[in-house]
Amino acid sequence: MTTQPAVLETERYVAALHAGDYTGHDMAHLERVRRLAMHLAEGGDVDRLVLTLAALLHDVEDEKLGREAGLVARHLDTLALDPNRRAHVLTIIGETSFSKHRSPSTLESAIMQDADRLDAIGAIGIARTFQFAGSRGTALYDPNDATSAVAHFDDKLLRLADGMHTERARQIARERHAFMVSFLDRFEAEWTGQDI
Ligand code: ADP
Ligand code: NI
Repeated sequence: MTTQPAVLETERYVAALHAGDYTGHDMAHLERVRRLAMHLAEGGDVDRLVLTLAALLHDVEDEKLGREAGLVARHLDTLALDPNRRAHVLTIIGETSFSKHRSPSTLESAIMQDADRLDAIGAIGIARTFQFAGSRGTALYDPNDATSAVAHFDDKLLRLADGMHTERARQIARERHAFMVSFLDRFEAEWTGQDI
């Protein structure tokens, strides 16, 4: 199957934009989210082009990465894309972020939320969290500091598995969640010296 020009152009656009990202939102994150999204979409009545574009573009306008609103719409304007599909990509991206608490309005959007959240948990999720904290200069762990990297597990990461929309994502999330819980147990044991 040949890759569609809109996808190739979007790959090029995000590869350039996300180059040099050391906050856990690099091109590898986008490729993993895309792969997860395609896996969750298998056998479903899903617009794969829309889902692929949303996966590649979902972190372009992230405020904490310091990028302005409107970039995605401007990029989509450069593609030969049906207006309904263009609107659908924007809807999905608007609903993806966990912190915005939006319910997905389409199956593609539900899959996209699941895929992004799966990449925030498990071994990769743990690694991304500490990379993000390092990039922001926040504490590794401090029981009195709500912004520490370890606090982010309670704040967000340990809540993600329960919120998966698709059965396939729920299954993957179960194992990734269990791994995080076991990591946090070890972390506490070593932090407090219980293991010595
Ligand atoms: P969303 O777009 O769903 O709101 P984010 O882009 O905020 O998600 O988060 C993506 C990943 O970046 C998180 O899962 C985590 O790995 C990391 N991250 C975000 N905020 C923090 C934080 N305050 N401390 C540590 N890691 C964070
Ligand atoms: Ni993301």
